[in-house]
Amino acid sequence: MPVLSPQPSLYNDLYQSSPRTAEILKAKTALSQEAEQALIAHIKQLLTAQNAVLVSHYYTSAEIQQLTEETGGCISDSLDMARFGNEHPATTLVVAGVRFMGETAKILNPEKRVLMPTLEATCSLDEGCQAEEFAQFRAQYPEHTVVVYANTSAEVKAQADWVVTSGIALKLVSHLDDLGEKILWAPDKHLGGYVQKVSGAEMVIWPGACIVHDEFKARALHRLKALHPEAAILVHPESPQEVVAMADVVGSTTQLIDAVKRLPNPTFIVATDNGIFYKMQQAAPGKKLIDAPTGGAGATCRSCAHCPWMAMNDLQNLAHILETGANEIVIDEAVRQAAHRSVQRMVEFGRSVRK
Ligand code: 13P
Ligand code: SF4
Repeated sequence: MPVLSPQPSLYNDLYQSSPRTAEILKAKTALSQEAEQALIAHIKQLLTAQNAVLVSHYYTSAEIQQLTEETGGCISDSLDMARFGNEHPATTLVVAGVRFMGETAKILNPEKRVLMPTLEATCSLDEGCQAEEFAQFRAQYPEHTVVVYANTSAEVKAQADWVVTSGIALKLVSHLDDLGEKILWAPDKHLGGYVQKVSGAEMVIWPGACIVHDEFKARALHRLKALHPEAAILVHPESPQEVVAMADVVGSTTQLIDAVKRLPNPTFIVATDNGIFYKMQQAAPGKKLIDAPTGGAGATCRSCAHCPWMAMNDLQNLAHILETGANEIVIDEAVRQAAHRSVQRMVEFGRSVRK
């Protein structure tokens, strides 16, 4: 079985990835091993000297996740990243992920410095839901409770009653439905559709999509499952409805990692960004993980299960921002205060359903 990671020691040989992902990963390994080790040691010193902690998403590279572990940071889903940054005593939060994650950290922690390896790392959901258009959409539904996904800008969050992540979306909407509230949901249409179907809530849904999860294909997944009848299918709810319908487990990134630990299956077909394999293999060594299929068979351009914006975080730009203080997240204070209300509600609701 091919080992496609540029750093095989960070993945075991059960990792199966698309050729495209392998290409992307290879292109990012320009550093020699010695240079990389020296850079890692340098970053560790800078983190300590600046009372900084790394808060990284599961979709970042294995190198960044390993460094996060070694320096006492947090690797998690977007809800837990927000919680960790809020509770940790460090005065600088270095958020390795995409822009909305850094903004959420700043919304919750105005007194802390929040740096990101790159401010260019955005998200198609965030990009596809601009604040002015969203305000016009919202104005059409004045009776609805506004629930927005964390994958939005601070300006959109500032217009919301609630912010949610995939880990608590279903629970929150079910709770609001029990209270008799009608929901305006934005921006992910697949997650919104899934939540609506399961909860039965009355919802209007903004038509956004994640360019990574939207690519998973149900017909090819049926064929793959036929080759691996022993496998459980794990699906992030940003995936299309037909893919979600085939899932043994639908959940946030953390919930999918828990499923690999919990379920007895020896094999898992995973429909989410394959950066998650680093933690999945740690959680359940010996289990076989397979990327869910993206592009159609025979297609000339095969999409990969890897977020192009998450891939922009690397050791070089991480060292650069720690050295220079570049890429600090700054949010207009009136926007931050308005967004704080809905983000804080998310953190508290998340805490209450976890108990
Ligand atoms: P999670 O909150 O499940 O980690 O999802 C974030 C995300 O951007 C998934 O594409
Ligand atoms: Fe956004 Fe999709 Fe990337 Fe997640 S994987 S950050 S939803 S573009």
